[in-house]
Amino acid sequence: MTGAPITNSSLEAMKSGGERIACLTCYDAAFASVLEGAGVEVLLVGDSLGMVLQGQRTTVSVTLDHMVYHSACVSRVARRALVMADMPFLSYATEDRALAAAERLMGEGGAAMVKLEGGGELARTVARLTRFGAPVCAHLGLLPQSIHQLGSYRYQGKDDAGAARIRDDALALQDAGASLLVLECVPASLAGELAAELTIPVIGIGAGARCDGQVLVLHDMLGLLSGKAPRFSKDFLAEPGAGPLSVSAAVRRYVDAVKSGGFPGAEHTLA
Ligand code: KIV
Repeated sequence: MTGAPITNSSLEAMKSGGERIACLTCYDAAFASVLEGAGVEVLLVGDSLGMVLQGQRTTVSVTLDHMVYHSACVSRVARRALVMADMPFLSYATEDRALAAAERLMGEGGAAMVKLEGGGELARTVARLTRFGAPVCAHLGLLPQSIHQLGSYRYQGKDDAGAARIRDDALALQDAGASLLVLECVPASLAGELAAELTIPVIGIGAGARCDGQVLVLHDMLGLLSGKAPRFSKDFLAEPGAGPLSVSAAVRRYVDAVKSGGFPGAEHTLA
């Protein structure tokens, strides 16, 4: 992979230049080089690895050790893509715990950014992390780590009150210093408004095509998981009419579709 390494400021420049950002989850070295070679700009070492790799029902059991291990596997081979690591469940419940978790994810794991789930209540934590040199990606909308409170994985921000809460949270987190925002499973209209209002890039998953970039769980977009795929995902390895594709070609199709605005389509989106 050639080109200067992707940083949080190059992601901001992509947003201002109108270039959409392609992000995928990635948990190991082999996929890291395939994804990077296919043009993926952000490799998210997501705690979805608990479900995808470990066969757990939720992400709650993922530990900091797991995240450090997989982040190191990915960052060891990534040369250009920005490696972002999820802070696992409750590892950022206090500011001190968050600093300690970021120290390990960035120091031992080699991540260049950490991601945490939650709203304005985390603003001070985000400010503290960024003040000490740890770039932060916020995550709003559906928060998988809160599944035991939510009861089910469902779209968020569908009514006026829910949408206003997400908007207030997004502004508070941006003001606190977040560099990036992942918006998961919210109506496309809300995500589009937020992407236009915020100065930081908004990466959507189940949030429509008007975001500044897209992320999917790698194993979903390669059709590797048994059971029903989420409505917002697409199997890029099984493109009708494309014939047999390599993993690398499928990922390139994803990157092209994100860049052109062809993915997600209306069928993947809640208006
Ligand atoms: O853990 C993960 O894979 C994520 C994505 C769903 C955004 O956080």
